[in-house]
Amino acid sequence: MRSSATHNAPLTPKERIIIALDLDSDREALLLVDELIGDVGMFKVGHQLFTAYGPDIVRRIRDKGGRVFLDLKYHDIPNTVAKASAEAVKLGVSIFNVHALGGLDMMKAAVVAAKEEADRQRSPLPLVLAVTILTSMDDTALRRELKINRSLRREVCHLAELAQRAGMSGVVASPREITMLRKAIRGRFVVLTPGVRPAWADKDDQKRIMSPGEAVAAGADYLVVGRPVLKSPDRRAAVHKIIHEIEQGL
Ligand code: C5P
Repeated sequence: MRSSATHNAPLTPKERIIIALDLDSDREALLLVDELIGDVGMFKVGHQLFTAYGPDIVRRIRDKGGRVFLDLKYHDIPNTVAKASAEAVKLGVSIFNVHALGGLDMMKAAVVAAKEEADRQRSPLPLVLAVTILTSMDDTALRRELKINRSLRREVCHLAELAQRAGMSGVVASPREITMLRKAIRGRFVVLTPGVRPAWADKDDQKRIMSPGEAVAAGADYLVVGRPVLKSPDRRAAVHKIIHEIEQGL
């Protein structure tokens, strides 16, 4: 069984599941937290919820005992990202992320600031993850728009290596990138994967999908799951089916 980069004990199937709180209201989000808190590892707060309700939504989830992945993908000058990273630690999040395209110094600044703030607060250090190339980009966009003249896969590997050099805990990666990253990156490195679809769920707009079992078998530590659970008439039952599929993949 593959263990997480910063946990000594292997992650349990339940701990690996992060529910994306892609919902329109704080009420709905908090109800879902109440419903699933005993069955999943974490809740993802992204731009929609954070822009609407601010850091208070994170505090309210934390007050309920929920662990939070703050998915705001910081991308700014190192000083600004360092300050934002310290604030993420103050909020008590378990994971937050930055764009690797912000560069080595920016990623280092995020890691150092998070460590300093965690020491100050005597709180656990969150995982600091890098987003490499957004999965909405393809080879053509990379070449024609960004003028990056190498394949998307090579660029993803390069940025993941840069993230490791900066001291980051790991990366956010599409299911298709997991195997490649596990080969390319040695040592302890977290891989967190969205775009996971159990066989019984709709694909929605996700194109490059894997089942939960396949994703953990390929080397994913954490799985972000949204609609397969959110759209299910019995959300707890959907989570339990996913836990079972993860067990099969480990
Ligand atoms: O509903 P679904 O399971 O597709 O939700 C996946 C979540 O992961 C969403 O919050 C989406 O924004 C996020 N995500 C993604 N693909 C990425 C990065 C993040 O689907 N490459």
